Amino acid sequence: MEYYDFTEVLRNMDMTSILVFCVVFLLCCYALRTPDDIPPGPVVAPLLGNIPQLAGRNPLILFQKWRKQYGDVFSVYMGSQLLVVLNGYKTIKEALVTQGNVFSDRPQNFMLDKLKEGEGVIFTSGTSWKIQRKFTLNSLQDLGFGRDSFEVCIAEEAKILIELIRYNADAPLNLKDILRTCVSNVICGIVFGRRFSHDDRQFLEVVINITEDGKLLGNASILTNCFPFLQYLPGDLLGTKTILEHRKVFQKFYEDLYQSHQSTLDENNPRDFMDLYLTEMKRKSTRSSKEENTYSKAQLMALVGDLFGAGTETTATTLLWLILYFLHYPDVQKKCFDEVQTVLGLEKFPSIDDRSNLPYTEATILETLRIAAVAPLALPHSVSRDVYFQGFRIPKESNVLINLDSIFHDSNIFKDPGVFRPERFLDSSGQVMKPEAFIPFSCGRRICIGEKVAQMELFIFLTSMMQKFQFLPDDPRQLPGLEGHLGITYSPNDFKVRTVRRQDSKSH
Ligand code: HEM
Repeated sequence: MEYYDFTEVLRNMDMTSILVFCVVFLLCCYALRTPDDIPPGPVVAPLLGNIPQLAGRNPLILFQKWRKQYGDVFSVYMGSQLLVVLNGYKTIKEALVTQGNVFSDRPQNFMLDKLKEGEGVIFTSGTSWKIQRKFTLNSLQDLGFGRDSFEVCIAEEAKILIELIRYNADAPLNLKDILRTCVSNVICGIVFGRRFSHDDRQFLEVVINITEDGKLLGNASILTNCFPFLQYLPGDLLGTKTILEHRKVFQKFYEDLYQSHQSTLDENNPRDFMDLYLTEMKRKSTRSSKEENTYSKAQLMALVGDLFGAGTETTATTLLWLILYFLHYPDVQKKCFDEVQTVLGLEKFPSIDDRSNLPYTEATILETLRIAAVAPLALPHSVSRDVYFQGFRIPKESNVLINLDSIFHDSNIFKDPGVFRPERFLDSSGQVMKPEAFIPFSCGRRICIGEKVAQMELFIFLTSMMQKFQFLPDDPRQLPGLEGHLGITYSPNDFKVRTVRRQDSKSH
């Protein structure tokens, strides 16, 4: 390979070129200089910022290193865009809870603004976000009880999951798609009051698209925000066209359900989330002026998309990590099974009321949420105004990353953080004990809306699978790795597992 000698290049330049080179270099340095009061951080390259250091590397590992070097509040530049990274429980709590009125916005983002049009709950801020979030939280709470409660939807889907695994038992199986479809169907139960067959092509297309959009949105929105000119390139380099195509598929899927809900709506007898929303939309359109009415069909569609997007990948990924850790820690799998067998037996279908009687299993779920850090950087936050935080200035609308992973791997809170040990979540009498700092669903005003649903799903899916199957590695001499890849969630790389029936029991 041929290398260029930089001093040789300089020697061959004429005086004018050298002067131009120096001026351009100084201008670049001037443009990139970081104001003194901005949080410190690693050296920044002209135009690219810290992208060269981050490219192809796991940012969570780099953030650990930079936290040691620069402290709990440091900055990173994506191109010329400032990104402040908050680390450690004390700092994160101070921002999201104590100063939650400033730190709870989402960043302005060219790509998301274009796609979401300021609707839904995940990527919005301000009054509309507050109203839609409150409505969603209240509705989920109302729907948590009664005939068509989450538990009914989750139980129905868990039974189908068992059947699907039973059908494929003994052969090496990648559980990713089955789990994702089952978890999505729980959201369908809550939102549309019905489930879809695992052979329903339209439904499967929606589930696949949602996962792909999560990945595309992550990459595309970061790139276009840093380098806005990329949006004008021909082709579909950023995946925007694909996302818009997916949106059409989702719109079609959603439209039929919307129409059937409209035509059968009984305002005094809401069946699901969509009925609750339609009732509120009707009520608001008759009572309020247009300005204060943030309820609309487009909002409802964005909300439903958000519940699917946020609720599917996170929960399915946690279940996958659980199974992967079982392969690496068969003793933990055995202890969970022994507990389930002793407390529930192998035929009684688990109910959420059993949770307090299965502390080891519950601790295993918590340990998985900790060690795997499924949503390690939460979702991006932003500050609504210039703010001084721990002595540093964070300018209005800066991106703020909440490094939850820094809490889960903090050896001052969790001894030997790299070790998978569910017992750390049990007290001396064997009951579940959660340190205050354990916040896998984040904290403050943006705390996950679906925490309760997720906890029920994880418990019921896991215990019902434990009753029926033992999970074994496809090749015991070569276990699938415990490292994953980071998109919006942190997911394990694809792996196959052998599911062995516990006994020839009848289906639930
Ligand atoms: C194991 C499963 C889950 C984990 C670990 C998880 C974690 C999180 C985290 C860390 C956030 C970001 C909070 C922040 O920005 O500070 C979040 C937001 C959110 N989650 Fe979850 N989540 C899970 C399941 C669910 C489910 C099942 C649903 C829906 C039923 C859901 C709906 C949402 C929504 C709508 C938001 C956005 C809230 C807002 O911006 O106001 N999540 N979740």
